[in-house]
Amino acid sequence: MKHLLSISDLGADGIEEVMRVTDSFVEVSERAIPRVPALRGKTVVSLFYEESTRTRLSFELAAKRLSADTMNFTVSSSSVKKGESLRDTCQTIEAMGIDALVVRHSSAGVPWQAAAWLDCAVVNAGDGWHEHPTQALLDCYTLRGARGSLEGMRIAVVGDVKHSRVARSNVLAFTMLGAEVTIVAPPTLLPPSLDGWPVEVSHDLDGVLAKTDVVYLLRMQAERQSEALLPSLREYTARYGLTSKRMRLMPDDALVMHPGPMNRGVEIAADVADLPRSLITRQVANGVAVRMAVLFLLLGQVPGGA
Ligand code: NCD
Repeated sequence: MKHLLSISDLGADGIEEVMRVTDSFVEVSERAIPRVPALRGKTVVSLFYEESTRTRLSFELAAKRLSADTMNFTVSSSSVKKGESLRDTCQTIEAMGIDALVVRHSSAGVPWQAAAWLDCAVVNAGDGWHEHPTQALLDCYTLRGARGSLEGMRIAVVGDVKHSRVARSNVLAFTMLGAEVTIVAPPTLLPPSLDGWPVEVSHDLDGVLAKTDVVYLLRMQAERQSEALLPSLREYTARYGLTSKRMRLMPDDALVMHPGPMNRGVEIAADVADLPRSLITRQVANGVAVRMAVLFLLLGQVPGGA
């Protein structure tokens, strides 16, 4: 694997391989000194044109735990503000001698552009509304940890699917691993076409919940919405928000997930986010080990360094 741009590049076998390697890095993360020399001498740069808490910090921590050098590029304090183009920015960074570029951008396709321009490995950390493959990988890993396998699992992906790169990557990954996915959203928050999406679609969350093993909630992405897609947030919450009352419609052991950042009180009630059946903090914790596995597989050290 030279780059990680899309979940489709991996396929089911590739996802399984990342999960296997992740197992050994979870073990590393539990050590008193959670660091291995696997990527010593390698340099990993984060180039984030959009805000991020989890993704950015966990890539950085992952690289550090593998003993790579890390650099963080912040658009607001860079020459992008002086008008430097994406291409020149990428080439300037690569000229310093880097091994991997972790890129997030508000436009779909930017990681592919970067991969075409550069020789180093490129990791897609979220491109516009398009894909977010490492989120999908950490979510698959979290579900596999909770239930052993995704085969036959019924997953409802609920909310602002239209603007969600997480939904795209996760639907691909979940279905590749054998899960059945139902998308639940008001019609205005669905993409214009779902042709080719291996999913069922519903506008009725209450009707779906009884047949659901996992509810995967998406954030209402107001910053990406250029028009009023909902009568009001209150109405959205009334029909699609996961409250503890609604949770009673679900099987007793059904799980709750959210990629973060959460809007507590909108797509998820504050108390639901903190229930033991909520995997939200486990998703974040697993994100570090999953990203260690991705960087390790890309920067190709001989196994044994771990
Ligand atoms: C998501 C993102 O930025 O794509 N967050 C994340 O990476 N965990 C989802 C979101 O912004 O709603």
